[in-house]
Amino acid sequence: MTDQLSSTSPVAGPVVRPRRLRTTPALRRMVGETSLEPRQLVLPLFVREGLDEPRPISSMPGVVQHTRSTLLKAVAEAAELGLGGVMLFGIPEHKDAEGTGAIDPAGILNLAITDVVAEVGDALTVMSDLCLDEFTDHGHCGVLTPDGRVDNDRTLAAYAEMARAQAHAGVDMVGPSGMMDGQVAVIRTALDAAEHSDVSILAYSAKYASAFFGPFREAVDSSLQGDRRTYQQDPGNAREGVREALLDVAEGADVVMVKPALAYLDVLRRVRDAVDVPVAAYNISGEYAMLEAAAANGWIDREPAILETLTSIRRAGADVVLTYWASEVARLLRR
Ligand code: PBG
Repeated sequence: MTDQLSSTSPVAGPVVRPRRLRTTPALRRMVGETSLEPRQLVLPLFVREGLDEPRPISSMPGVVQHTRSTLLKAVAEAAELGLGGVMLFGIPEHKDAEGTGAIDPAGILNLAITDVVAEVGDALTVMSDLCLDEFTDHGHCGVLTPDGRVDNDRTLAAYAEMARAQAHAGVDMVGPSGMMDGQVAVIRTALDAAEHSDVSILAYSAKYASAFFGPFREAVDSSLQGDRRTYQQDPGNAREGVREALLDVAEGADVVMVKPALAYLDVLRRVRDAVDVPVAAYNISGEYAMLEAAAANGWIDREPAILETLTSIRRAGADVVLTYWASEVARLLRR
């Protein structure tokens, strides 16, 4: 076969030349399989109660804990850049065992939601983390039993209240990230009963007990001792990630998420193929920190590495990517 073809070819050489489609930038652009657009990106933002000026997060160079007013500058910029949305995390001044700051209508996250919605209107999808870990003094995502285990069902009741508070504050989409069984169903029921059936749910469905969350603990002043292995998933389990996503869709999730992204691109692909709702992926704090650290040392070319990272997450199946680089990348894509 090859012999026959090459014998009719005037010059000996490969008959099939994939490089032909890589010849010029215009050609490469035309046949590109994976797009990266600002509308697909969501910027996670931290807002801390009681700050007078933004406080840098040392393990996440370029990311800060915002004051209520600098938060509004960041969201206005995100809207102007055409991002898909923002994901808000609140850090209260005082934490307690039950995480009451999460439910208090005057709690930092609920106040910030109202501020942000007033600032950007419907130019952005305003999302909020729906979890207790930023608000509890023990740092777990739920409330504890007397003997110190995370109490699934009592936590669900707290999540229902938190969902109502966030919806009342004006949020568009809540992001339950605590990995409690049944959390999506309980939140959907609570929202509907409070006449917030228009508030959607981005479920952190396949969330792994990952070492790459490290810098986030600094970002939210976490006091967590130990780990989250009784609720977040074992890093070796892919099938279970698909099962969690299917359960969340059945419970009413509008979007499902895989998290972290880079070490779980296979799970992301499997979830994308298994569900018929949009799939998000969270390019988390440790993934950000690794690349920033390498770039700061001159070991990696920062901007192409960021674009390649986000493109790989899109290619693996993410419709939406949460990334701390969202605004910067939107600016890069304009050029
Ligand atoms: C839980 C939550 C976490 C992150 C987002 N939501 C921390 C955790 O589960 O330990 C991590 C985000 C990141 O690392 O960038 N509220």
